[in-house]
Amino acid sequence: MISNPIIDSMINRKSIRKYTEEIPTDEVIHLVVRAGQQAPFASQLCSVLLTRKKGIPFGAPLLFTICVDLHRMELIMARGSWRIVTNDLSMLFFGIQDASLMAENMVTAAESLGMGSCFLGVAPYIADKIARKYKLPPRVFPLVQLVMGYPAENPPTRPRYPLRFSLFEDEYPRFSDDEVEQAMKQMDEGYLAQNYYSKGKIMIKLERGREETYTYDNYSWTEHISRKWGQWYESPAELLEQLSKRGFKVFFQEKEITEPEE
Ligand SMILES: Cc1cc2nc3c(=O)[nH]c(=O)nc-3n(C[C@H](O)[C@H](O)[C@H](O)COP(=O)(O)O)c2cc1C
Repeated sequence: MISNPIIDSMINRKSIRKYTEEIPTDEVIHLVVRAGQQAPFASQLCSVLLTRKKGIPFGAPLLFTICVDLHRMELIMARGSWRIVTNDLSMLFFGIQDASLMAENMVTAAESLGMGSCFLGVAPYIADKIARKYKLPPRVFPLVQLVMGYPAENPPTRPRYPLRFSLFEDEYPRFSDDEVEQAMKQMDEGYLAQNYYSKGKIMIKLERGREETYTYDNYSWTEHISRKWGQWYESPAELLEQLSKRGFKVFFQEKEITEPEE
């Protein structure tokens, strides 16, 4: 098996949800963000907010908020009397690509410096609140948050789909029932063996009068993730409102799609 320190660190990474009180030095923080910056970019459409106050989730010393940032691009373009005409949906996609790559580079850099981290996904839904807290100019949209610090726990690495359920060479396959079930089994048995949901008392409540039939003996990843995407965020209105408040015009227009004529 090929092995090297970077691969080992990436394969062994896991989200950390307990931290020591040790505060990373400025040098360490700047190194993490600098390594993050060196991720490939479409247009450097991202910036990072940092808070080191107390009260950060999981007792972490650092909270980064990685933002899609069109503001700085507008400042630069205005110098040459340019303005962005590219639609905001496209800019948002490019910004999400840039910000995601930067964020993950920060995760890997943190690992290499003996730290751990955990993403928090709520930012887009509380974008306006975050914007007021950090006095964000328009056209900056908080995409994802990342807590970071020195780990006070060492959980096992979490399961992933089998590689054959994730990597498709030349052609996307048609999955057999067996392949789908194998993938589900790998995830569910992996999480059950770690008592992940029972330890954390994590179980998404069933809505709309659905009757609970699961216990922590069989509640695992595929049921958990199905409950999320089978019950939450049916309407895009909440997210569109947050985007609109931040100056992103991502219209949602229900248009009748006409079938092309034969
Ligand atoms: C975009 C994103 C949002 C996430 N949001 C949360 C969150 O709000 N709370 C949390 O505890 N973990 C969150 N996570 C961490 C995931 O739960 C975690 O990465 C996943 O369960 C796999 O576990 P691992 O990172 O330990 O391999 C998030 C991860 C990502 C990439």
